[in-house]
Amino acid sequence: MGRRCWRRRALVAASLGAALLLLCAAPHALRPAFQNGALGSGWLGGKRKSPLQMLYDLDQGPPFPLAQVHQQRRDLLRRACSRHTRRQRLLQPEDLRHVLVDDTHGLLYCYVPKVACTNWKRVLLALSGRARGDPYAIPAHEAHAAGRLPSLADFSPTEINRRLRAYLAFLFVREPFERLASAYRNKFSRPYSAAFQRRYGTRIVRRLRPSAHPDALARGHDVRFAEFLAYLLDPRTRRDEPFNEHWERAHALCHPCLLRYDVVGKFETLAEDAAFVLGLAGEPGLSFPAPPRPKAAAASHDRAARLFRDISPFYQRRLYDLYKMDFLLFNYSAPSYLRLH
Ligand SMILES: *[C@@H]1O[C@H](CO)[C@@H](O)[C@H](O)[C@H]1NC(C)=O
Repeated sequence: MGRRCWRRRALVAASLGAALLLLCAAPHALRPAFQNGALGSGWLGGKRKSPLQMLYDLDQGPPFPLAQVHQQRRDLLRRACSRHTRRQRLLQPEDLRHVLVDDTHGLLYCYVPKVACTNWKRVLLALSGRARGDPYAIPAHEAHAAGRLPSLADFSPTEINRRLRAYLAFLFVREPFERLASAYRNKFSRPYSAAFQRRYGTRIVRRLRPSAHPDALARGHDVRFAEFLAYLLDPRTRRDEPFNEHWERAHALCHPCLLRYDVVGKFETLAEDAAFVLGLAGEPGLSFPAPPRPKAAAASHDRAARLFRDISPFYQRRLYDLYKMDFLLFNYSAPSYLRLH
C-alpha cells in the first residue's frame, strides 16, 4: 500500500469524531494511527511497539515470508469483500459483540467457536493479566465465562474508535464445512452436550419428525447430521433468532467486510499463525497448543467428508450457498467430496 493511500486513510480516520460508523470507509487498511505519539506511547510504558506498529514495520521492511502470506490474505479478503458484498451497511456496536479486547497489548480478537477459541481466550486472559500461571490450565468454562474478557461492543463509540484505529485486530477461521462438522459432532453426537441437545436437539426433533418418540422429543439426543442441516436450511430457523454462534457463519460473527482485520489466522495453519500473532504482541515465548498438523487435518477432512456423503446433492448445494461467503472471503475452495453440479 502506497504512502499516499496511508495518508488519506489517516485523514479519514482523523475526521471521524464520535461516530464510529465511518470507520467502515477504510476497512482492512492498517492505519498508521500509532504514528501519532499519544497513541503509540501507551504500550507497556512506551517500552515496546504496539502489535499494529510491529506489523506495519514488517510490511515496510525487507520481505518476510509469513508477513507476505498475511498481506496476501488481507488483500484477498478486501477484494472478495468488494466483489461479493452489496452496498455496505454501517458498522453498529452490536456487530462487535465477538471482538474481545486486550488493552495491555493492544489486541482485538474476534472469536469464532470451533476454531481454537477456547485456547485463544485463555491466552488473552493471560496476556491481559486477568489470569496467572499456565494459560492452558485455565478451565474451559472459566475461559468462556461471560464478561471475563471485555467485548469491544461494551465501550463507548469514542473508545471503540480509538481501539479500532490503534489495535491489531485478528481472527481465526476454518474450512467452513469442517467447522460445521465439528460443531455437529461436539454438540449433537457427543454424549456430554446434554444442554445443547435439550435446547436445540428437541427443537429439531419437534420440527422434523412428525411422530417422534417421546424420549427423543424430551432429550433431543439423537439428531442426525441430515436433520441438523435441514434445520439450518429451514428459513424459519433464522427468522426466529440468529444462528447459535457454533454454526453461525464466521463472516456474520466478525464482519470482516465492515471491520479491518490485520491478521486472518487459519485453523489449518494454527501453530504458525498463532506464533505470528504472539510474536507481534511481543510474547513469542508463549507457545500456542496446536494438534500435530498432517494427521489432525486429515482426520478433520475425513470426518466432514463422511458426514456429507449421505447428504443429497440438493441439500449439499443449498448448504454450500449458505456458507458460501466464508468460502469466498477466506479463500477456501468447495471441497472435492461435494456434488455441486
Ligand atoms: C488461496 O488458495 C489457493 C489454493 O489453495 C492458494 O494457492 C493461494 O495461495 C491462496 N491465496 C491466499 C491469498 O491465501
